[in-house]
Amino acid sequence: MNDIYSAFTGNIPENYDHYLGPIFFHRCAEDLAVRIAEGQAEQVLEIAAGTGIATRYLRNQLPGKAHITASDLNDDMLRHAQQKFLPSENISFQVANAMELPFEEGQFDVVTCQFGIMFCSDKPLVFHEAHRVLCPGGRLLFSIWDALEHNPLPRVINEMLAELFDGDAPAFLQLPFSYHDQTQIRKDMEKSGFSDVRFTTLDGECVFSRPKNAALGMVTGSPLRLEIEQRKDTTIDEVVNKVMGRLKTIFGERDCRVPMRWTVISANRAD
Ligand SMILES: C[S@@+](CC[C@H](N)C(=O)[O-])C[C@H]1O[C@@H](n2cnc3c(N)ncnc32)[C@H](O)[C@@H]1O
Repeated sequence: MNDIYSAFTGNIPENYDHYLGPIFFHRCAEDLAVRIAEGQAEQVLEIAAGTGIATRYLRNQLPGKAHITASDLNDDMLRHAQQKFLPSENISFQVANAMELPFEEGQFDVVTCQFGIMFCSDKPLVFHEAHRVLCPGGRLLFSIWDALEHNPLPRVINEMLAELFDGDAPAFLQLPFSYHDQTQIRKDMEKSGFSDVRFTTLDGECVFSRPKNAALGMVTGSPLRLEIEQRKDTTIDEVVNKVMGRLKTIFGERDCRVPMRWTVISANRAD
């Protein structure tokens, strides 16, 4: 996996949170937080917490005494997250690689992750680490995107990039939609000791008032930006404008609603 695909740095966190948050992530975060709050959740570890979108919904759903540890590989994402919370909100923030968690065995009763695992090159290692830091009976709940064919907004942009870069397109957009084979995921999880693995596939909508917001979010709110900046033959503004034009043609000029599909996976640490 290209190293820059994990580099949510510089002004990416701000654009991610501002543009992509409302388009993709808030509704999924609310659903995930409600599921977590249905069971025991006193010590919660969130991995790949990013700018704290799911953290906010978790904080609102869980009782005040529940402690949340929000972690992410990128300090720039976490600093953006931290500014959204008051010191009294019982949350700690910690830079952590999901494949090498800096926590003791059995410390948490919930580990969660919204749309982060795809960015980790070794998924079984993430499950191994999550299993290690969960207490017996603890739960893992995380979400993944379904394939690009079920997520037309990124699919259309990905197809457009392929045309624009004539067979040598930036490939970042494929990554978030690349880990959805349920047989493989179950195998990866059971190998790490998880039991009672359950999949819930959900259909929703990406909602954006103007195609410009979606184009800015998709091009400047993720490491796709860095991948485009490495190219000498175009600029970010040019790509944003071309993406915006294509989105207008396909999804309309105002108040766009585009289907999206994702899956929430839950499992237990049995022993
Ligand atoms: C699409 S964002 C999801 C952020 C957040 N969970 C949300 O729902 O908005 C992916 C996140 O994964 C983080 N990430 C990438 N590789 C990681 C790793 N190896 N360990 C922990 N976090 C990682 C990135 O920094 C980024 O914040």
